[in-house]
Amino acid sequence: MPSNNNASLPETIPAHVAIIMDGNGRWARKRGLPRLAGHRAGTENLRRVIEACVEFGVQILTIYAFSTENWGRPEDEVQGLMSILEDVIDRELKELHKNGVQLRHIGRLEEINPTLQRKVREAIAMTARNTRLTLNVAFNYGGRDEIVQAVRRIIADGVKPDRVDEALIGQYLYTGGQPDPDLIIRTSGELRVSNFLIWQGAYAEYYVTPTFWPDFDKEELRQALWHFARRERRFGLVSAPS
Ligand code: IPE
Ligand code: IPE
Ligand code: MG
Repeated sequence: MPSNNNASLPETIPAHVAIIMDGNGRWARKRGLPRLAGHRAGTENLRRVIEACVEFGVQILTIYAFSTENWGRPEDEVQGLMSILEDVIDRELKELHKNGVQLRHIGRLEEINPTLQRKVREAIAMTARNTRLTLNVAFNYGGRDEIVQAVRRIIADGVKPDRVDEALIGQYLYTGGQPDPDLIIRTSGELRVSNFLIWQGAYAEYYVTPTFWPDFDKEELRQALWHFARRERRFGLVSAPS
């Protein structure tokens, strides 16, 4: 396999990349800044990473922006994160649309403030026909909560027990109809899943970098893709004979 010391790309690009964008708080602390400054720097970075995904041929990018557990953070941080999302939509939507990005939301939208909800819904409607990159924004998302919601809807639809299988549950998740993530990246060095895509990530490859999210750039993404390309995915089987 060629080296990854240059600007080349591996032959195998994962169709679906998911990112746990972690380390904004520590990035800010290292600079003596408030945590929200870290979150703002993190959203600036998001634009660069989305552009790199488009350039590298990734088809689906799922980003973890706010978890169902993050409501437990100090009130001003939670409010700050809500207004940052609103600012991002106001500022970036046109450009995302122009670049062919289809925006989707995964998580509980109905629990966030009505103005923000409306903006998210409008952004989804505006970009619905775009096909270059699907961007799933996990905001007020929890993997366990997603499964609970799916089970509730399955029961509400009167589905008979013997019709419940893995494919049916997959259809009822927020990501229904999309392929599972191939590669899940976590920044800031934490070796945990933190309730992200716990069903869909069953056979994802994981890649963790110590870099804090605001510093995770195009070259780091390229490195992650190279690591992915070198992995042997076995899905519980044995290696193909060489
Ligand atoms: C990730 O950064 C962003 C969110 C969870 C909203 P953190 O805010 O978790 O940053 P650290 O982990 O405290 O450094
Ligand atoms: C996961 O990061 C959630 C997001 C990146 C949005 P956290 O910082 O909330 O996760 P823990 O607390 O380290 O597990
Ligand atoms: Mg964190």
